[in-house]
Amino acid sequence: MRLLLTGAAGYTGRGVAATLKERHFVRGLDLRDAGENVNESHTGDIGDLDVCRKAVQGVDAVVHCHMAPNPDGYKTPVVAVDVNVKGTANLYHACVEHNVKRAVLISSCGVLRDEPNANAVPGDGPYNFKTELYGLTKMMQELVARTYFEKQGIVTTTLRPAWIVYDNDFTSKYGWKLDTYYASLIDPRDIGAAVLKALDLPSPGLESFQIAQDDATYDQKATHERLGWRPKFTFDGLKKPKPPTTPGA
Ligand SMILES: NC(=O)c1ccc[n+]([C@@H]2O[C@H](COP(=O)([O-])OP(=O)(O)OC[C@H]3O[C@@H](n4cnc5c(N)ncnc54)[C@H](O)[C@@H]3O)[C@@H](O)[C@H]2O)c1
Repeated sequence: MRLLLTGAAGYTGRGVAATLKERHFVRGLDLRDAGENVNESHTGDIGDLDVCRKAVQGVDAVVHCHMAPNPDGYKTPVVAVDVNVKGTANLYHACVEHNVKRAVLISSCGVLRDEPNANAVPGDGPYNFKTELYGLTKMMQELVARTYFEKQGIVTTTLRPAWIVYDNDFTSKYGWKLDTYYASLIDPRDIGAAVLKALDLPSPGLESFQIAQDDATYDQKATHERLGWRPKFTFDGLKKPKPPTTPGA
């Protein structure tokens, strides 16, 4: 397949690109040159519809992995909404014009309230409205995906990771190093593997999957059974918190 990966020069994008490139041709789109991360690099602003039109030409699917810079992009709604919402809508609009029918959206498990039915299709929630601008724009991305599915038939698989960190160096995108294991951790290369699984889904519809370590408390039944994904990077080099001791034991 020929894929467009947005945010290809970003922290997550470079790991996702590395995995996708093993099987597919990857065109990156980012404000910065994605260089060797991808087979072909487009630089441009997804807030510009013409940039999106050019970027989707000749691709079979779009993988949305862009986000406004954190924290500066979330001090007011301007950049957050321009990049995360308008940019996403521009890409879907360009897909309609160029007959691209498939997308994968990297969302976030933070869009949801911690309630059953968390794998409901994008647009059904249960959404966490007590959130900051980032969470609001991620919910809005899911609504954009839902609308372009209902009205235009573009099929989106939504992946909802939690905390993205590389398993080899444990250094977060903000530059600090982890020493403790969390079940919500996920390596970008494993997100790439989940994207590959999403693109291989038989009879794909509008679906969402939470992706995390096997011992995470998120509902991952559909992730394991329908998507067929489990993490390869399991952060074994990090300290596991001791289990709580039973009082009096
Ligand atoms: N980092 C996490 O822990 C985490 C957790 C859950 C979900 N996510 C999601 O993963 C995805 C990637 O996040 P990340 O943490 O790697 O972010 P990042 O900031 O490292 O990468 C985002 C990329 O988007 C690009 N970008 C920003 N504005 C743009 C514009 N106007 N046009 C084109 N490109 C633009 C940036 O240049 C950057 O390279 C996002 O969708 C984010 O919501 C991240």
